[in-house]
Amino acid sequence: MKSERPLRSLDELTLDSKFSIQELISRESFDVLLRSMNELFAVPIRVFATDGALFSEVGPASPLQSYLGTLPGARRSVRETVEQVKSSTPQGDNDLRLQGETGERYTVIALTYDGRPLGRAVVGPYVLPSESMPQALAQCDPLVSSDRLTQVWGEISRSDEASVARLARHLRSMLGLILFSGHRALLASNMHIASVQESFRELSEKSATLQAAYERLKELDRLKSNFLATVSHELRTPLTSIIGYSEMLVAGIAGDINEEQRDFIGTIHDKGEQLLELIKGLLDLTKLESGTLNLHKLDIPILPILKDIVHTLTPTARNKGVILSATGDAGMPTLWGDAARLRQVFLNLTENAIKFTPAGGHVTLSAQIAHVELPTDEEGPAIVLRGVKRPMIEVRVADTGIGIPESERPRVFDAFYQVDSSSTREQGGTGLGLSIVKRLVDAHDGTVEIGENIPRGAVFVVRIPCKRLSFFG
Ligand SMILES: Nc1ncnc2c1ncn2[C@@H]1O[C@H](COP(=O)(O)OP(=O)(O)O)[C@@H](O)[C@H]1O
Ligand SMILES: [Mg+2]
Repeated sequence: MKSERPLRSLDELTLDSKFSIQELISRESFDVLLRSMNELFAVPIRVFATDGALFSEVGPASPLQSYLGTLPGARRSVRETVEQVKSSTPQGDNDLRLQGETGERYTVIALTYDGRPLGRAVVGPYVLPSESMPQALAQCDPLVSSDRLTQVWGEISRSDEASVARLARHLRSMLGLILFSGHRALLASNMHIASVQESFRELSEKSATLQAAYERLKELDRLKSNFLATVSHELRTPLTSIIGYSEMLVAGIAGDINEEQRDFIGTIHDKGEQLLELIKGLLDLTKLESGTLNLHKLDIPILPILKDIVHTLTPTARNKGVILSATGDAGMPTLWGDAARLRQVFLNLTENAIKFTPAGGHVTLSAQIAHVELPTDEEGPAIVLRGVKRPMIEVRVADTGIGIPESERPRVFDAFYQVDSSSTREQGGTGLGLSIVKRLVDAHDGTVEIGENIPRGAVFVVRIPCKRLSFFG
């Protein structure tokens, strides 16, 4: 089915739509139909679309008209016959029979589909089998040759009106059949295309809305980071004064204080320190999120960092009745990282481990070398290095505490997220520690995973590459 028209929208595609014959029928197959009609009935047939354009034709031009066209005096009657045929429009199924000044006959058939006009078929010119030439023709021009006239008259197709009526009937019913399947196919394919276009349009709209929402969220996220950075920074200055002055008061610089006052000031000092830690955490997080935190990476050994953490946190652990220890092979390679930031990572993890382990429990930090296969789904050099193992330092922070349910493990790295159980809430904290840990480990090209410490407790496994990844030795 050929269609030069632009596609219709779904709304336009109703059964009331106007279709043209060119749109509904392939010219090639219609030509075949007309040719077989012509073979059966031996009369010329021309089919015109509603706009008057010739759609298909079969049979020779009129030999009589060709001859008369060469005679100046006869041209008018030829022109008038043609005009008469052109301007006649049959109504409904009533075929229009015409006889021109040249004596030739035509039958004009209205072509409709479902009551809608599609065009006209003009059958002719023909003359009746026994019909003789009109007398007027012989006098139409002084130059006319009666022999030649008799000859071309004899060449005009012969047919009786009953045959032409049969032809009209056949043409109509054949056309009806072709149109029915054509219309159905056109409607189906247009419907299909229109509905695909409609879903595409809907999808594009949704994707544009999502894109806009995404941009807006990104902007909000940036504003939030800026806001946090500014506020945290501004909070730090007055807080430093609060902590400083409370220290001076306790030291007796402003005069003697009694035990109760010392107690109160001690609380002010401790809460001030706590607030300062929180603000530092927020600042770190905003810097990590915006990528403005600078890491000073060097080749560093891991064991001294772990030992230092054990040293720092032993009093806290002892207070809780938790045993804290660190183990590791002295001959381990160095890793590539920022010592102060890695200390922050393991300090956070160890603090958590102590916090969530009841008295009598153990918290153990252990370091070993691990060979981790490079991911093969990365593009570029990783493909060349497929199967190559990368040496990493693996640090496990294991405790015998309450553990973390598997379903919560992915979420504890979110900022401000705390596993919602009363035991967690009792311990205090802000929920920032692990999100900073995760980002710092990421910044070291490392990984952090949570496991179960059989038979009880949690274990955090951190892996940091030993060396800067270099593809050229
Ligand atoms: N070793 C652990 N054992 C059990 N739960 C833990 C442990 N470490 C972290 N969690 C859970 O993860 C949450 C988030 O930890 P974190 O980000 O450090 O925040 P915070 O320590 O301020 O609560 C904790 O509140 C706790 O619910
Ligand atoms: Mg914590």
